[in-house]
Amino acid sequence: MRMVDIIINKREGRELSDEEIRFFIKGYVDGNIPDYQASALAMAILFRGMNKREIATLTDAMEHSGDVIDLSAIIGKKVDKHSTGGVGDKTSLVLGPMVAACGAKVAKMSGRGLGHTGGTLDKLESIPGMNIQLSIEQFIDQVNDIGLAIAGQTKSLVPADKKLYALRDVTGTVESIPLIASSVMSKKLASGTDGILLDVTVGNGAFMKTIAQAEELAKTMVEIGRSLGRNTIAIISNMSEPLGYAVGNALEVKEAIASLKGNGPKDLMELCYGAGAIMLVQADIYKDEVTARKALEEVVRNGEAFEKFRLMIKAQGGDESYILHPEKFEVSKDIIEIRAERGGYIHNLDALAIGVDAMKLGAGRETLDDVIDMSAGILLNKKEGDKVQVGDLLATVYTNKTQDEYRDIVKHIQETFIIKDECPKVDDVILKVIR
Ligand code: URA
Repeated sequence: MRMVDIIINKREGRELSDEEIRFFIKGYVDGNIPDYQASALAMAILFRGMNKREIATLTDAMEHSGDVIDLSAIIGKKVDKHSTGGVGDKTSLVLGPMVAACGAKVAKMSGRGLGHTGGTLDKLESIPGMNIQLSIEQFIDQVNDIGLAIAGQTKSLVPADKKLYALRDVTGTVESIPLIASSVMSKKLASGTDGILLDVTVGNGAFMKTIAQAEELAKTMVEIGRSLGRNTIAIISNMSEPLGYAVGNALEVKEAIASLKGNGPKDLMELCYGAGAIMLVQADIYKDEVTARKALEEVVRNGEAFEKFRLMIKAQGGDESYILHPEKFEVSKDIIEIRAERGGYIHNLDALAIGVDAMKLGAGRETLDDVIDMSAGILLNKKEGDKVQVGDLLATVYTNKTQDEYRDIVKHIQETFIIKDECPKVDDVILKVIR
């Protein structure tokens, strides 16, 4: 079998056989297939798509490209949540402790930023001392002890995705339903939880731009999970504007801390309550989502969710004084205020533009070797539908770049705030649930 023939087959829109798909994944992981051929196939898949059988085989081949974790040593049902990526998406940092505080076992494997979207591991690393590289034994022990762990994939877990994810990030091949579905589901299946809650984001800040695409991706992933006996549910959530107000690693951790203390942004909390209620039912802690939601509201109100977060940070070596005193997080050298040049209502606060600008300010990686500036980012002071007057603060920019480097970025953020006389219709954060 030759890799070039597999690329040509897909380029011509033909179905790939199971053998061809397995040959590609094995060869790529073993280092026998070079990046340029893998990226050509990824592009052919992006344009030509894959049918259900091909996606199922690709997911299976990726899942078994490395170790599959056995979490049976964790007592009780384990649940995990995975987002297909967004801007300002600190959901896992808030949702994980909330759900764990209600008694579920949250065993969460997270990833790094991809493209303009942030990654939970990068955010957690803004807490000094935080160890996100747990061994499987440490991961299991921690979930048994405190009910919650958020860690990076071990080296041996789905190595095929590790290579492909990084390759897709730099070859314009992220936005493909078969490639996203197999990437997400291979990791979720290999990491061994009983319940899987998928957050499929939609809008210009997400990889899926339309509800129809998001629904197709959600249904594809739910079907894969269910066919393999995992309780899999997907939420379709709105990512046309950033989630919450903070975009950037330390800024987002601070917003997560405030949220766990009961001062969270409305959209973020709505997503956490909706997703958390589903997870608590998946974990068999509650029979219905209405009761589960009340429990989630209670653990935020009484401080148990915040305490769970503190325990997790401490267990993973993080300096808990930053959690107790978030003012300790390093602040960037330059802080620039962006103010309204006219009065009216904010329209279409473009999440992609804000995500790319935050990345350019230092909050994300433009190339694989870039080192993230944990203090950099954008704090939105206004969001879609808010009424403003001339001179009102719209956003605050945090950066350690030079003025020459950030001048155009700041100008672009200013232009991203479209202000009109009429009040826009603002969509709910949870648009649909696919069960
Ligand atoms: N998240 C993933 O884990 N994989 C993708 O391909 C996109 C988002």
